[in-house]
Amino acid sequence: MPIVPTKEILDRAFAERYGVAAINVVNDLTMEAVLAAAEELRAPVIVQTSVKHVKMTGVDAMYAMWSAYAGRVSVPVALHLDHCPEREVISACLAKGWNSVLFDASKLSVEENKRQCVEVVAEARRYGAHVEGEIEGFKRTEEMTGNEVAEEQSLETVIDFIRSTGVDVFAPAIGNAHGMYKTTPHLDSQRVSDIVEATGIPVALHGGTGMTPEQFSDLIARGCAKVNISTALKIAFMQSGYDFMTEHAGDYDPPKIFTAQRAAVMEMAKHHIRLFGSEGKAWT
Ligand code: 13P
Repeated sequence: MPIVPTKEILDRAFAERYGVAAINVVNDLTMEAVLAAAEELRAPVIVQTSVKHVKMTGVDAMYAMWSAYAGRVSVPVALHLDHCPEREVISACLAKGWNSVLFDASKLSVEENKRQCVEVVAEARRYGAHVEGEIEGFKRTEEMTGNEVAEEQSLETVIDFIRSTGVDVFAPAIGNAHGMYKTTPHLDSQRVSDIVEATGIPVALHGGTGMTPEQFSDLIARGCAKVNISTALKIAFMQSGYDFMTEHAGDYDPPKIFTAQRAAVMEMAKHHIRLFGSEGKAWT
């Protein structure tokens, strides 16, 4: 079973300057479909779970699902807990076997975030797991005014946070947001280069859905080794279900709609894997 440390996946991508798709899944079907897409393209992939999803499904059931599905593929894969402000959920996931967590204390002061993040890193290390850090928080695209200042904390503050916490990957605000952008976002790509140059660690690119292929290639070349995609999966999953029922009104045989949804999610995942340059990069 090629479940590998998140850092191993990211360090290779960072060194070779390709991006690894880190895709948020919403249930068993989407988890399996993302893994199947990675297997088909021989690509490493990171499967992400939200706190909401973990709580809804339960840590034990979700991990059982993950090990069963990950056991079917031969490419390097890792399980990551996305944006988690709750220390108990972080502890439960790390103890169960998640490969990495994003400790999201962006609502706290940078000092308090740093203090707690040091503890989260120490806790993760006990399990051979890794930590993503953030100090700025991300808006939803609906909340964007178009006049955002990407940089909410100074570069010095970011560098100090990374050095003093020992996080393995950092998620900076660069004008990106979660959701579907109304127009192409203006991204501060230089900020990625500055962080990478000063700290030598890979950057996590949030709000991937809706960025242009040029933005992805530029940011990945600068060191965004982890590229987060969530909204695109939700759209592929929900829209394909809606389309199926529209085209097959009155057909209530669940496996048929599941087949359509699996195909749509796989297509979406393969599209991003190719776009990020990780096709064929599996080493296991
Ligand atoms: P999108 O929903 O915009 O793809 O963002 C994903 C993300 O950054 C998850 O943390």
